[in-house]
Formats: sequence, C-alpha cells, structure tokens
Amino acid sequence: MNIVVMGAQWGDEGKGKIVDYLAADSGVIVRFSGGANAGHTIVIGSERYALHLVPSGILYPDKTVILGTGMVIDPEALFLELSGLEGKGIDWKGRVLISDRAHLVLPSHRRIDKELDAARKKPIGTTGRGIGVAYGMKSHRDGIRVADMDDPERLVNLEASDRDFVEAWRDRILPMKVDLVTYLRHRRNTYVLFEGAQGALLDLDTGSYPFVSSGMSCSAGAAAQGGVGPRRIDRVLGVFKAYTTRVGNGPFPTEFADNSPGSLQAYIRDTGNEYGVTTGRPRRVGYLDLVALRYACAANSIDRLVLTHLDVYDELAEFETCVAYRLRGKLVDDFPASIRDLEESTPVLRRFRGWKAPISACRSWEELPREAKEYVQFIEEFTETPVSMVSVGSDRNQTIVRESPWARG
Ligand code: IMP
Repeated sequence: MNIVVMGAQWGDEGKGKIVDYLAADSGVIVRFSGGANAGHTIVIGSERYALHLVPSGILYPDKTVILGTGMVIDPEALFLELSGLEGKGIDWKGRVLISDRAHLVLPSHRRIDKELDAARKKPIGTTGRGIGVAYGMKSHRDGIRVADMDDPERLVNLEASDRDFVEAWRDRILPMKVDLVTYLRHRRNTYVLFEGAQGALLDLDTGSYPFVSSGMSCSAGAAAQGGVGPRRIDRVLGVFKAYTTRVGNGPFPTEFADNSPGSLQAYIRDTGNEYGVTTGRPRRVGYLDLVALRYACAANSIDRLVLTHLDVYDELAEFETCVAYRLRGKLVDDFPASIRDLEESTPVLRRFRGWKAPISACRSWEELPREAKEYVQFIEEFTETPVSMVSVGSDRNQTIVRESPWARG
C-alpha cells in the first residue's frame, strides 16, 4: 500500500510528526520533493530532532528511507544532518538511499539564490538554500544528477568550484544511490510512505505563484518523482494546522493584522512554537483558511485530512475561522489564481466556541471536548473531506487516530 503525506497549507503543518507516526507500520519512506529548505521536527520524549533532507522515518532503526527523484540535494547539508543524527545515536548507514535521478544543489546555486532574491523588488523571502536555482538548472537541462556525478562529460560545463564540490562529495554520495523505480518495483507488497515537503500552497503550479517554492509539493509530485505512477497511490493525506502560518513573503488573506506582544498572533506563535526550523524566522500567523484548504483538497485529491496543533486553542474562550473571502465588495468562495486578488482578499470569519480545557492527554476522539469535535466536524463538512487523525501535542504519542490511514476503503 502506498500513502502520500503532504502539507495542505503553506508548509510547516506537522508532516514530520505524522510521517514519523505512520512510519511505524511502513517499510520504506520516500521523500519526494524539496531540499534543505524544509524543516521537519520530531519529538520523542525529551529528545527533539530537526530534519531537513532526511525522511522522517529515519528514527526507527529498521526503516529504509529514500531521498526521491524530485528532491534537490546539497551533499554538504545532507552529511551535516547525518552526522547530527549520528551524534544522537541514530545509526543511519545502509538505511539512507538516494534516487540516482535526484539533482544536486551546488555552491553556485546557493549564491545565485540569495543574489536573485535580494535583487527582486518584491523578494520571495527564499530560505537561501539554492532550491529554486537547482530546480531551474534542472529545467534548463544543466543540472547534475546523482547518477552522473562520476561522468566527466556531464561536469564540463560547471564552474570550477562547483566541479570541485561534486568531485569532493562523489565518493560519499554514490554508494548511497539507488534506482528508485526498480527498488519499488521489487517491493510491491511493502507499505510505502511518500513524504512531501512544503505544502499545497507552496507548490510551483497549484500554489500562490510566484511566492512559492520550486518543487512539486503537490500529491502528483509523489507519482512523478517518487518512483511510482499515479495509479499506485492508494491514499493522499493532507496535513493542516488548526490555524494557518506562512514563512517568507507573499499573500496571506487570513493573516492576523496585530503582531504586538499580547496579540492573538503572538500568543499562537509562542504556544505553537511557530519559528522556522530551517531559518529560525518567526512565522506569520493567521486564522484557519478553509477556502484555501478546500482548494488544496481538490487540487491534490486529498482523501483524508490530518489536523495538527489543535491543543494550541486550549486556552481560548472563542476563536474564528475563514469561510470565504471578500474581494472588492464581493464574496468569493474559491482560492484565486491572481496574486493581486489574493493580496486584496480579506477573510469572512465564522466564530467558534473554545473548549477551555487541556486536550494534550486525550488519546481518543471520544475524549475530546464537544466544542473541539464540533470544530473538526465543521471542517469536514466544509472541505467534504474526513479528518482521520488529530494531533494534540508534539510528542509521537500525542496523536488521536479515528481511522488508520493504512486501513483500506
Ligand atoms: P525556497 O524554497 O527557499 O525557494 O523558498 C521559497 C518560499 O517557500 C519562501 O517563502 C520560503 O519561506 C518558503 N518555504 C520553503 N520551504 C519551506 C518549508 O519547509 N516550510 C515553509 N515555508 C517554506
């Protein structure tokens, strides 16, 4: 069985935790897009792990994790991460594989990424990890794939420092390479998790272009770049938070206007620890945007939603959620393509009663307060998509499973 776990907002929805949780029942975890721009946090007891390139199943000693074809991989960042894991007692050797069709991020890509963004009149606010440039070179057909690292013919057009870089990392990367399509063809009966990075609204095609990342963070990315075709995907899980966040620039119709100490934005940012794992930047925070979430469900055929960070609302007597946009005096129910329309949209809000009780100890749907269940049910009706899991804290075990994603049906 093959399950995709993707972000249904602007990234940082808690995919890492959900992949880590579901990885217990899977054999292989394939990350299908993005690069070291991503930051996935996993908390187990008192230990906190921050992953950027390595798929989230790595913390189980018996799982194989694969950096998929759709990723852009900076070997230096990868080995920094692997040595950090080693320092925490994680034995990764022989379990971390890299698709031989994945592309490399080179030093010039990092440099150009920063230069390009600084030169933009309206910067995207990239993570500066060379991601967009590496994907651009791939589209230009000037990228370097893992499979070609030892082919001098492929390296001739590189500037000298990039060529030296490839040659310096070659002997460590090549032993990890795998033909992903063949690998998965031989494991048709294995449970495979396809781990997305970023989110639906940061996807190059379905996101808020140009304020997006450059990979395929949509569910189709798993099919195109995860080593299987679309008909082998059995389920798509869309992970979303009880509110919305965004890092970097770009339109965000439900963003809270007030960012002062004591504001709702400051409260949620601190309670939900909304600071970038990769850059440390404070995340922008806003109301849950159901217009955007419904769009993400449709664009990605998300068939089950996973709600995270619900406990962040524990102390609020009431809260609001966006159910439509107001754009130049008219009501809009669909997520607009025009960046100007998105920038000028303001949220139409629906008020919900809070539960004013700690829910982090709840382990079943029945234990959740009535108000929390009503909120979840409203989301399900609005998006026409069932919520199959609810996360009530950052720890692996603070997870409520209403229906196992591995159950067929
Ligand atoms: P890039 O991926 O570094 O090119 O950045 C493009 C945009 O995507 C910027 O607004 C980043 O902040 C955002 N972004 C990239 N990766 C992530 C992520 O993992 N979570 C949230 N935002 C991200």
